[in-house]
Amino acid sequence: MAPRIDPSLPFPPLADLHHKHILLGVTGGIAAYKTAEIVRGLRRAGAEVRVAMTPAAGRFVQPLTFEALSGHPVAHDMFAPGTESAMGHIHLARWADAILVAPASADFMARVSLGLADDLLATLCLAAEAPLFMAPAMNRAMWRHPATCAHAAALAGRGVALLGPDEGDQACGETGPGRMREPAQLVLDLAHALAGGGLLSGLRVLISAGPTREPIDPVRFISNRSSGKMGYALAAAARDAGADVALVSGPVTLEPPAAVEAVRVETAAEMFDAVMARAGWADIYVGTAAVADYAPAEAETAKIKKHADRLDLALNRTRDILHSVAALPDKPFVVGFAAETDEVEAHARTKLEAKGADMVAANAVGSGAPGGFDRDENALFVCWRGGECRLPLAPKTEIAHRLVRLIAERYYAENTDQDP
Ligand code: PMT
Repeated sequence: MAPRIDPSLPFPPLADLHHKHILLGVTGGIAAYKTAEIVRGLRRAGAEVRVAMTPAAGRFVQPLTFEALSGHPVAHDMFAPGTESAMGHIHLARWADAILVAPASADFMARVSLGLADDLLATLCLAAEAPLFMAPAMNRAMWRHPATCAHAAALAGRGVALLGPDEGDQACGETGPGRMREPAQLVLDLAHALAGGGLLSGLRVLISAGPTREPIDPVRFISNRSSGKMGYALAAAARDAGADVALVSGPVTLEPPAAVEAVRVETAAEMFDAVMARAGWADIYVGTAAVADYAPAEAETAKIKKHADRLDLALNRTRDILHSVAALPDKPFVVGFAAETDEVEAHARTKLEAKGADMVAANAVGSGAPGGFDRDENALFVCWRGGECRLPLAPKTEIAHRLVRLIAERYYAENTDQDP
């Protein structure tokens, strides 16, 4: 069966952990406050969650927080009266389909690496046969210390999956590797590792993003206000859904999402070549880029001087990338975008047919629109032959996840022999 998608589902929607028992271990670190978000994310993804804390973790977050969020008592004291009769540590270790320790401090990693069982969580890790995941979080120098490196290598060598750490600003004011991976990402990482994939697992997704620049002379160009935010969010969401993603991007200031093949281009002609070179590889193409419809017939080689009162520029139509991909004999599933200042839904339907796309996601653009070009939020009217759906105003990251769910549903509906 194709995955049934309800785009009104709460964010994050791509992880599926239904029927999974996740034991979440919390160790002492400032990132422990973020673990509350992980509990919520795991539960939203359908998992049943139990939490075990080290004594040091209790100095940062009260067990009551995790008890309220998980709906179960928190295991933190190996010798607490009633603990063994309620759910002993061996029983808890057997109950878990996976253990995620987040944050995993340097001290905790060292203890598990050495096989110490000197608190309840370390004992659980030693007693468990389920896969063990750790999300390290510590100061960058601690992470790079040879002792931590040796323990991390030993753990990885024994099959412990280290999720992160990420690079960035740290609570101590320093910058570097050691930040705990974001809660939503950890939930997705776990879901992918346990389920063997997400909604787009095994599929290849090609996305165009950003504006193009069409040179007039060496210092001037024709372009538009696209920031790349929508396309980059889609690339990250498709990757989170388990796809291999290639992102062909016009000039923007954004960093490409991790684990995505990024190809930088300038002009519509370069974007055409880069997309067409990869279209045969892709199962799905999403044209988010605001490609120039016209480009100067000739770019001057020297800067144009302002002698005349009036300057006429001759422009030629660019080649339509979306239409060309959709016309390929072995075309991927083609999703176009439509940027409209009026009659959004009618224009979207017209573009669906005119461009030969399988789906069009249309957004209202212009000064009065809350979404569209260079905004952090967007709202989409999405249509395909035989259906339509409205994704109300939300951050582009969230809209991207919802659109990816819709694309997955339509892709599988049209490739029914390829249900995941
Ligand atoms: O980048 P952001 O600041 O986040 O803004 C996002 C966005 C507003 C740019 C995005 O949501 C969007 O609407 N992208 C499409 C913009 C656009 O050019 O729309 P259009 O209606 O002119 O084009 C329709 C479709 O044809 C698009 O998929 C476009 O990529 C494609 N096209 C257009 C011209 C061309 N020569 N080749 C194309 O493939």
